[in-house]
Amino acid sequence: MTTIGIIGAGNIGSNVAKLAIAAGHEVVIANSRGPETLADLIEQLGPRARAATATEAAEAAELAVVTVPLKALADIPAKPLAGKIVMDTLNYYPERDGQIEALDEETTTTSEMVQAHLAESHVVKTFNNIYFEHLGTKARPAGDPERATLMIAGDEMPAKREVATFLDSLGYDAYDAGTLAESWRFQRDTAAYAGVYTEGGDFSRFVPADADRIREKLAQSKRYRDM
Ligand SMILES: NC(=O)c1ccc[n+]([C@@H]2O[C@H](COP(=O)([O-])OP(=O)(O)OC[C@H]3O[C@@H](n4cnc5c(N)ncnc54)[C@H](OP(=O)(O)O)[C@@H]3O)[C@@H](O)[C@H]2O)c1
Repeated sequence: MTTIGIIGAGNIGSNVAKLAIAAGHEVVIANSRGPETLADLIEQLGPRARAATATEAAEAAELAVVTVPLKALADIPAKPLAGKIVMDTLNYYPERDGQIEALDEETTTTSEMVQAHLAESHVVKTFNNIYFEHLGTKARPAGDPERATLMIAGDEMPAKREVATFLDSLGYDAYDAGTLAESWRFQRDTAAYAGVYTEGGDFSRFVPADADRIREKLAQSKRYRDM
């Protein structure tokens, strides 16, 4: 049992929380409006979950998940996350997040931005390219032929191994897609983005992607400037 600190309680945060509770973990979860606004979610999650501020969730976390709009990255408290593994689900949508020159020019990746902000944390990109409803409902036990593989990227093997163990507990295998710098290959709208887990981007047709499918999609991904 691990205490999972989740910052962001929307589509992805609430589904990660649900899976984590089902796997026997404890959850401390935060949003921007304050713990009192999360009463309904906590009631659904049960006694091993509690609502907190973002700082409290970061302090309580043995493993952390940051799952907010990219434009809110600057608000994520870095100090209480120092030395911890942080799973990063963030995607860049300019219409929501505003134009970010370094991403538009592809001199960095979203996950390198997260790592730069959380300089003393061990950032691992994951959960960013699976639709939240699929994430919440398609978890399967190890060995199940319908079990899907999620992609991870990060600069440190021990952190990636720990995240893979966490994903396994939730009901997913893990595929190591390389470093944070290489993680552009499964950023928004690449071949290895939402199309990995759907047939042709149709959310009603879930595909439980395995390592072979992921390898194939990653190889097809192009930088935005070459698309
Ligand atoms: N939706 C998907 O299927 C999906 C899939 C993969 C990845 N993603 C990415 O994952 C991230 C989260 O997506 P989502 O769909 O879960 O978003 P969402 O439903 O809009 O939820 C965002 C959550 O972040 C919280 N938040 C915003 N600013 C915050 C701050 N400054 N401090 C603490 N919490 C803050 C919000 O709290 P309030 O409601 O109180 O403001 C809300 O709980 C995004 O970067 C998204 O692109 C989404």
